[in-house]
Amino acid sequence: MTSSIEGRRILLTGASRGIGLAAARLLVEQGAVVLGVARDGERLAGVQAELGAASGGRFLSMAVDLGRPEAAELIRAKIESTWGAVDVVIHNAGVMLHHEGGIMEEPEGVLEQTMDLNVMAPLRVTRALLPLLLKGERPQLFNVGSGAGTHQGMTEPGISAYRLSKWALHGLTMLQARDLSGRVAVHVFDPGWVRTDLGGPNAPGTAEEAAQGLLKTLLAAGDQPCALFKDGAVIPW
Ligand SMILES: NC(=O)c1ccc[n+]([C@@H]2O[C@H](COP(=O)([O-])OP(=O)(O)OC[C@H]3O[C@@H](n4cnc5c(N)ncnc54)[C@H](OP(=O)(O)O)[C@@H]3O)[C@@H](O)[C@H]2O)c1
Repeated sequence: MTSSIEGRRILLTGASRGIGLAAARLLVEQGAVVLGVARDGERLAGVQAELGAASGGRFLSMAVDLGRPEAAELIRAKIESTWGAVDVVIHNAGVMLHHEGGIMEEPEGVLEQTMDLNVMAPLRVTRALLPLLLKGERPQLFNVGSGAGTHQGMTEPGISAYRLSKWALHGLTMLQARDLSGRVAVHVFDPGWVRTDLGGPNAPGTAEEAAQGLLKTLLAAGDQPCALFKDGAVIPW
């Protein structure tokens, strides 16, 4: 079990708002060194202004669209030149592009775009970063999944493309855990239903609570076998 995240070098995607922003604040406060990635450079500059100086330079940011083919290599090059290795990778950036109807009614392109951002982008970035992750201290990889993509979630209506993407991300995590067994600890974190742009205004949880859940998970998961974690505890896939 990891006793602290102090000094750990963490890549966190989706750090400009929502759960990622709350997580960036908390991880930096806990002494981690964080590279926050998001697409919106202006919003990210605001986060940099808030966290950069206050943390004594332990928050760095990089505006990049994870949907672009060159994104993974840009992130790899930045981490290689800045840290030379990475200890924790958290794929938190995600999209929910459509809400109503079943999978057969999803508008043209929604499934493709959702799969690209929620599944393929984390895979592309992890592939690019693997040599740097293997050089890291007690390396950990977290894909941010969702209850929407569990066995139970897949029986519920709406957000079909999103559900399928998170189901696939959970599966990707299992395969990565098997392939990287003994070298990188690989897990899924489920933040629960949270009031953010993605979660909407009716969600019961806050981004700050989700960030606390992520921190508990980072500390609890250690090198345990691959599992789906929520609030630091293992829950069913
Ligand atoms: N909220 C919930 O209820 C809930 C529940 C379960 C799981 N989750 C998962 O938790 C994660 C965070 O969700 P959230 O609610 O915090 O979402 P959010 O408020 O919509 O924030 C999404 C983040 O992802 C970034 N992002 C989106 N597309 C990107 C792209 N093409 N390139 C780079 N960054 C991109 C956004 O950056 P920009 O600001 O630059 O667009 C933003 O920082 C997601 O993986 C989501 O599926 C959320």
